[in-house]
Amino acid sequence: MEKHHVEVMLTEEQVNARIRELGEKISRDYAGKSVHLICILKGSVYFTCELAKRITVPVTMDFMQCSSYGADTKSSGVVRLAKDLDESITGKDVIIIEDIIDSGRTLNHLKKLLGQRNPASLKICTLLDKPDRRVVDVPVEYVGFQIEDKFVIGYGLDYDQQYRNLPYIGVVEFD
Ligand code: IMP
Ligand code: MG
Repeated sequence: MEKHHVEVMLTEEQVNARIRELGEKISRDYAGKSVHLICILKGSVYFTCELAKRITVPVTMDFMQCSSYGADTKSSGVVRLAKDLDESITGKDVIIIEDIIDSGRTLNHLKKLLGQRNPASLKICTLLDKPDRRVVDVPVEYVGFQIEDKFVIGYGLDYDQQYRNLPYIGVVEFD
């Protein structure tokens, strides 16, 4: 890893407050139904769990893993499925939970893939969105925070597998 330090972008209080709002919105939007959350490993684990705790309609969960960044901070543009879902999503109201949308390639690919499995509905919820970096246009129904084009870590997001456990969103500043 290059020499760097971390600065706070969004505090733990800000992140938690926004997740609570998202949970309330999802609970209203899915009133009378249940939701099937698809957590994209590994980055979305923290966000998915915190969000699920704030949703008041019945929740089920499944996990999927795609390849993303290695030790680099730039997207390779290649999306590879490393772990598929355990259960069928046919007829379910599905929300894909992501940590961050950058180029949009990962979610564009996943949305197409899961859409072919005939869910009753399919939406996307992301904690963070970097709109300036978008290469592929993908509609996102629930966004926690729109942020500027900086490399961020914490709340599940990593820099070379480190910092996922930070309870806030930090910015990596290279020295
Ligand atoms: P996309 O396919 O370019 O939209 O990339 C999405 C994935 O890239 C995310 O799920 C993250 O794993 C990773 N990623 C994008 N930006 C960042 C960042 O600022 N910090 C850490 N990981 C990131
Ligand atoms: Mg990652």
